Amino acid sequence: MMATRAQQRTDRAEPVRSGEQGRDFDFTSADFTRIRELIHRGAGISLSDHKRDMAYSRLARRLRARGLDSFKQYLDLLEAENDPAEWEAFTNALTTNLTAFFREAHHFPILADFVPRRAQPVSVWCSAASTGEEPYSIAMTLIEALGETGARQATVLATDIDTQVLAKAEAGMYQFDQVKHLSPERLKRFFLKGTGAHAGMVKVRPQVRAMVRFEQLNLTDRDYQLRTQFDAIFCRNVMIYFDKPTQAQVLSRFEPLMKSGGLLFAGHSENFTYVTQAFKLRGQTVYELTRDAAGARAPARTPAASGVTV
Ligand SMILES: C[S@@+](CC[C@H](N)C(=O)[O-])C[C@H]1O[C@@H](n2cnc3c(N)ncnc32)[C@H](O)[C@@H]1O
Repeated sequence: MMATRAQQRTDRAEPVRSGEQGRDFDFTSADFTRIRELIHRGAGISLSDHKRDMAYSRLARRLRARGLDSFKQYLDLLEAENDPAEWEAFTNALTTNLTAFFREAHHFPILADFVPRRAQPVSVWCSAASTGEEPYSIAMTLIEALGETGARQATVLATDIDTQVLAKAEAGMYQFDQVKHLSPERLKRFFLKGTGAHAGMVKVRPQVRAMVRFEQLNLTDRDYQLRTQFDAIFCRNVMIYFDKPTQAQVLSRFEPLMKSGGLLFAGHSENFTYVTQAFKLRGQTVYELTRDAAGARAPARTPAASGVTV
C-alpha cells in the first residue's frame, strides 16, 4: 500500500513541502475561506485574514493525526464524516485561550463590593472560562468578600466551548510563574505548593475548587439549558471574536439569565453600548441589567443607588 505523504514525512529528515513555500500540506485560499465559514457557523468565531497562518499551524496537527495530505481532504472528511469528536478537535484547535489569574484586575474589587449586598447565596457565571484562571479568581474574590462560611453557599459556573481547556481548568494545576504576581496572602490562602514531581507547580486549594462547576457550553447555542439566574456574568475577551449580530444574540440570551440589578463584566476592548439596550454601561467595562425583578425595563440606576462602585 502506498504511504501517504504525512507517513513518508515521519520517515525522512527533511519534510516534503507542497502548496505554499515552507508548508507541509496543501493549503489554498479556498481552504481558508471554508475554515472561516465552518468555525463561524459552529462557534460564532470570525477569523480575520491575518489568522491564516494560525489556522494552518493549528489544524496541521489534525491532518498529521489523521494521516492526510491536504486541507481539502481534511475539510471534506470533517464535513462528510460529521463526527462530533473531529468537530470538537477542529473547534478546540481554532479557539484562542489566553487568560490569567486576576486578569483585568479592576473588575475584582467591583465584584467584591457587589456580592455582600446581594441576596445570598450568590451565583456567578464565567462564560468563557478557558483554562480556569478567571473562574478561580472569581471564587477567590467571593471568599475574600463573603468569608469562608458565606462563600461556601456561593456558586461559580464556569463554561467554555473548548473541551481541552476545560479539562485543564478542572485539574486546577498551574505553573508557579502563572501566580507569582499574586500577593503572598492570596498565594498562601488559595494555593497548595507542588513538591517532588510537582515542584514548580501550584494547585488551587480544594475549598476554591469546590465552588466552581465546569461545563461545556457554546455561547452561540440557541438554548443554553441553564435553569438558574446569576448575580453576575463574566463574558470577557470572547465577544471580540464574534461579529455584531452574534454579540447581540448572546446578550439577548444573557438577559433572562440575569437576576435583577445583575452585573455583566466585559473585556477591556469590548463595548456593548451599541449592541444592546438591556445592559447599561456603569463604567470600566461593567454593565448593569436595566430590567427590574418583574421583568419590566427599569431606568438605569445611579451607582450609589445600586450599591455598585464603578
Ligand atoms: C481569550 S479567551 C478569554 C478567557 C477569559 N475570559 C479571560 O478574559 O481571560 C476566549 C475563550 O473563549 C472561548 N470561546 C470561543 N468561542 C466560544 C463560544 N462560541 N462559546 C463559548 N466559549 C467560546 C475560547 O475557547 C477561549 O477559551
